Amino acid sequence: MSGSHTQGAVLVTGASRGIGRATALEFARRGHATIATMRDPDAGASLISDAQNCAGTLRVERLDVNDSASISVGSDVTIVVNNAGVETENLSVEHGDVDEHWKYLFEANVFGLVRVTQRAIPVLRANGGGVICNITSSSILAPVPFLAMYRASKAAVMALGESLAAEVAQFGIRIVEVMPGPIVTDMLAASERRAAAGDHEEYARLADAMWVTRQQIIDQYTPAEEAARRIADACTQTEAPQLMRVGCDDMAQSMVDAWKQTPHDTMTQSIIEYYGAP
Ligand SMILES: NC(=O)c1ccc[n+]([C@@H]2O[C@H](COP(=O)([O-])OP(=O)(O)OC[C@H]3O[C@@H](n4cnc5c(N)ncnc54)[C@H](OP(=O)(O)O)[C@@H]3O)[C@@H](O)[C@H]2O)c1
Repeated sequence: MSGSHTQGAVLVTGASRGIGRATALEFARRGHATIATMRDPDAGASLISDAQNCAGTLRVERLDVNDSASISVGSDVTIVVNNAGVETENLSVEHGDVDEHWKYLFEANVFGLVRVTQRAIPVLRANGGGVICNITSSSILAPVPFLAMYRASKAAVMALGESLAAEVAQFGIRIVEVMPGPIVTDMLAASERRAAAGDHEEYARLADAMWVTRQQIIDQYTPAEEAARRIADACTQTEAPQLMRVGCDDMAQSMVDAWKQTPHDTMTQSIIEYYGAP
């Protein structure tokens, strides 16, 4: 599929900080009209000033993925980056509370993304096509203890993205799934500790072992600006597959490459082809 629709406006969710902020700035630098959306537009003041000399424009709009009434996708948008996401303390499946932890994660990471996507599809279709980019996580590919809740929410997005790719191919809309590894942001910093799961005696030994391995990958942390460049590359790539999965850092890309040796991607592509992509 060609990337002919990738010159239009770009909407990024969760652009107040981290990967979302860097991605909005990167698109503005590349000349796109960029809509940096966030829960609190006051948090976008420094982003607006950083974007002043960019080749494109950048404006800040309020968008809370948990609040349907706040979600709107302008008629000129052709690329939507579903970046907004949350994490909780890393607990075992046994101890993660359904209301406090599981529902909190799924509300923003899954249902919030669905709300934005449902608003985006008619706009992209009216524009003759475009790109929906879902930021999931390379952690899906590694069954690491104490990340079950977060991984499950991201895996739900991965699964819905596959069906979505098959549904919207006919409208010229392609799906990009970016699976970040460790990117230097507030979210990564918040997890820079022994997992809270270890506060329960039964899981203390495993939490200690996890903390040791976690510290061994510190040299693979990637700046958000580098992640943003790779996200923008993936969204604007011409001749991209209908469902494109990439990392936005070397560690994640090597995990994605290894995982792609499995037949699952082939299965998705053959389903897309069976139902007739344009
Ligand atoms: N950093 C990593 O290592 C890493 C690895 C794998 C995947 N990811 C994924 O990458 C994405 C960005 O993560 P990050 O590291 O940049 O995280 P971050 O620094 O914690 O930033 C998260 C962003 O999401 C926003 N957000 C949270 N809830 C929202 C809501 N209900 N509506 C709108 N925006 C909301 C936050 O807004 P506020 O400022 O209002 O809180 C913030 O802008 C997430 O989907 C995350 O799961 C990150």
